[in-house]
Amino acid sequence: MSGHNVWTHNGTFLLAAVGSAVGLGNLWRFPYLIGENGGGAFILVYALTIFAVGIPILIAETMLGRTSRRSPIMGMRHLTKTHRTFRVWESIGWLGAAAAFLILSFYSVIAGWAIHYTWLMFTGSLLEADAQAISEGFTTLLASPALMTLYHTLFIGCSGIVVGMGIHKGIESGLRIMMPALFAILLAVLVYSVINGDIAAAASFLFTFNVADLSVEGWLQAMGQSFFTLSLGMGAIMAYGAYMTSETSLTRTAIAIAFIDTAVAMVAGLAIFALVFGAGLDIAQGPGLMFVTLPLAFAEMPMGALIGGVFFILVLGAALSSSISLIEPVAAYLVERFDMTRPQAVAVMVIAAWAMGLLTVISFNIWAEGSIFHILFERSAFELIELLTNVFMPLGGLMIALFAGWALTQTEVKKELGTSATWFVTWRFLVRFVSPAAVAFVFLRTLPYVEG
Ligand code: PFF
Ligand code: NA
Repeated sequence: MSGHNVWTHNGTFLLAAVGSAVGLGNLWRFPYLIGENGGGAFILVYALTIFAVGIPILIAETMLGRTSRRSPIMGMRHLTKTHRTFRVWESIGWLGAAAAFLILSFYSVIAGWAIHYTWLMFTGSLLEADAQAISEGFTTLLASPALMTLYHTLFIGCSGIVVGMGIHKGIESGLRIMMPALFAILLAVLVYSVINGDIAAAASFLFTFNVADLSVEGWLQAMGQSFFTLSLGMGAIMAYGAYMTSETSLTRTAIAIAFIDTAVAMVAGLAIFALVFGAGLDIAQGPGLMFVTLPLAFAEMPMGALIGGVFFILVLGAALSSSISLIEPVAAYLVERFDMTRPQAVAVMVIAAWAMGLLTVISFNIWAEGSIFHILFERSAFELIELLTNVFMPLGGLMIALFAGWALTQTEVKKELGTSATWFVTWRFLVRFVSPAAVAFVFLRTLPYVEG
């Protein structure tokens, strides 16, 4: 394949990968998972998997993209052929595409809630509201399939437009505006929460741990979260890696991505819990943490409406820079494989994920607790989709590690990584043994739980 696409600058891959990594996973999911799973213990398991599993697989996945210079599905097919190895490895591409599709479907619905709250904040609608009013407001939003579908449509539509404009005019230009703004806003929110919240209580909650506090489901969630937060195992990073310039160091870039992503999650966690503790609110709110507790905390603080509105803009921007990375791998595949135009390919992915997203929409109302679906599966469709992606991502990651560590010719891998011998040996040891063992361990621990 000659004349493949490449990012305009050496640093663009880092920008794009950070854009993909930093998202609802950091701002919405990480804090509420900590709140539900007893604080520090969750963070400990999460941090361990980031280092032993996340970073090595991040390097491997980027490498697969850059060395194949194709979309994940076509790239895996190409590598399997040229390395004369088993065709099962091709399932890495397919597994990734399926996971990307599922994640995009619910990601867009949740991001849609942030549109609602941005609006409520800037219009000052929540200024006089008390706890009951705000929590009723959230319940009313969840009870309305029409409203949620409207926001879901808006969000996924915007994401589609950015990707449809191409990797240079759309993705690159979009990220170059969005990312610096996001970091500035995050810092502003942190400063605000230090002044107006209880940062000491937040820090002690996040950094004291008792591993016994962590349930078996907590272990799976922590590992699932570390894959989710780094955008691993679903082709997003592989697709972006395919456009990476050959000179850039893979190891250094991967470590930078993991570091920035973790820092954002920690800062967001600190800021959110400082506000929540400061206002004396409940931390174990689940998915509603950011949407109920935070608006309430902002409502009671000086300039809360303005800062709250700015905060939800941050959430939206972070979500958008992630959702575009979920569309890109599948869109690139459709363009390569079926000769579609980019806008056509994007439309196919977006419309399919939009329709799938309706399942998440109705999980909070028509198919909520008490409905036939909920009784049959003992959870909502949204929770089922989340559980599925929590299995797909580590499975995809496991296969990426094994493929990169065992199936590929190691002299070529070494050349592609372009790092020192020590780094290479360390990385290879991690992807060959440590990452697979860690993933297998968590799966085994989880088995009794999944069986009920
Ligand atoms: N990493 C994103 C987050 O933390 O919000 C979510 C995500 C984006 C997961 C892209 C997977 C992906 F391919
Ligand atoms: Na993340």
